[in-house]
Amino acid sequence: MLSRVLSDEELEELMVELEELTDDPVTRSLLAFYVKRSPQYEIPDKSISSEMVYYMIDNELKLDGNPALNLASFVTTEMDDYANKLFMENAGKNFIDQDEYPYSNLIQDRVINILARLYHAPTDEEPVGTSAIGSSESILLGLLAHKWNWKKKRESEGKSTDNPNIIFGEDVHVVWKKFARYFDVEPRILPMDHDNFVLDVDQVRENLDENTICVGTVVGTTFTGDMDPVEEINQMLEEVKEEKGWDIPIHVDAASGGFVVPFILPDLKWDFRLSQVKTINVSGHKYGLVYPGAGFLIFRDNGDLPDDLIFEVNYLGGVMPTYNLNFSKGASTVITQYFNLLNLGREGYEALMHVLMVNTNYLANMMEKSGKFKIINKESKVLPLVAFELDESLPFDVFSLSDRMRQRGWIIPAYTLPKNAEDRAIMRIVIRLTLSREQINILYNDLIDACESLERDIETVLGEAKKEKRIEKSRQYL
Ligand SMILES: Cc1ncc(COP(=O)(O)O)c(C=O)c1O
Repeated sequence: MLSRVLSDEELEELMVELEELTDDPVTRSLLAFYVKRSPQYEIPDKSISSEMVYYMIDNELKLDGNPALNLASFVTTEMDDYANKLFMENAGKNFIDQDEYPYSNLIQDRVINILARLYHAPTDEEPVGTSAIGSSESILLGLLAHKWNWKKKRESEGKSTDNPNIIFGEDVHVVWKKFARYFDVEPRILPMDHDNFVLDVDQVRENLDENTICVGTVVGTTFTGDMDPVEEINQMLEEVKEEKGWDIPIHVDAASGGFVVPFILPDLKWDFRLSQVKTINVSGHKYGLVYPGAGFLIFRDNGDLPDDLIFEVNYLGGVMPTYNLNFSKGASTVITQYFNLLNLGREGYEALMHVLMVNTNYLANMMEKSGKFKIINKESKVLPLVAFELDESLPFDVFSLSDRMRQRGWIIPAYTLPKNAEDRAIMRIVIRLTLSREQINILYNDLIDACESLERDIETVLGEAKKEKRIEKSRQYL
């Protein structure tokens, strides 16, 4: 979100308003400190005690949603006590200072190694990778490398580098569209089908040409948790390579799926087992179970990461290579990702991801049986997520249901699907570890209650309207 800077007049008005708010001397003195002399939007002239500042900020933040009830987000809201300890102890380390914090960087190497192996990076190639702030940064970096590789190849063949394009579906996260605009690449965005919310292989083929820098695929889409047909696209690209000589790479956006699919569907091929998959991103802060700020990008082979994009920085005490969009970041997220990988191990991730899937199916089945909901991601289960529409018989829409659930504390987003399916409005419940079986039962009961109370409200309004009409009619006879 962009924050707007208030004008002096607006600030003045705000101060007057807040001053009139209360007679209570304690609150008044808080306002005097916080509002009158030091409004929220200007640095206060005088210091305020840490205790009071804590009180004021904490008090306001209590109005935020409860992260545990936020079923809109994939992002981790709770970690193990020892992970929390490591997180706090390392929060002050700037990860970029590789010379000062070599062991934090060593830990990144280990995480990248573990992920590359988890994604079956070929042993006869030289996989490399980097950590980032999240999947968005990782995706931008991965796609930039593909643009660069394409450009270098075209230049070496003496061909034009004027019109690069990238192909992906409407099922992508917004960062893909950002890449196209920020890095000046024509986006060929393939529409969804009305009933199928992933890429269509034939359509991808029709849109390819010699200027295609990459095909983007998603394992666990933001909208419905579906998965693009990566294996089929890979096969088609192999054929295209054979027929036309275009060697078009695939980037897999496994922001959410990258820590789920390897554990619940280990035989499903979506990763470096497929020859054209050259880069994969994953968010550690989603099912990697780390607090926000952790993303990773893995290259199948060092040769896929152009040397020109790596900057050697020498002003921190040694020469260090960097491939990032930003510079400074805390070391805690990378360190706690390593903690989780060791602490849970394959066994732990497998168990947790299976539990999440079992709970997802439990909720989805109950919802379906109620007759009030239609589950739309039943077929392609790669994420613990329930995406659903309302049964046509219900006299309200998903937006009203989302509002009503919000009144009970639950945050469940409602939205329309992208192009070609935009007439379908759905809701999405993300199942995370903080949601116990008992809470799922409560959530289900709250969903049913919310539907019934909406139905009652609508009946009341309709009843009132009918009464009004009758009164209106009877007036004619007076
Ligand atoms: C499929 C997909 N790609 C990319 C992103 C962006 O990830 P991040 O929030 O880690 O930047 C998301 C976030 O939800 C996502 O679901």
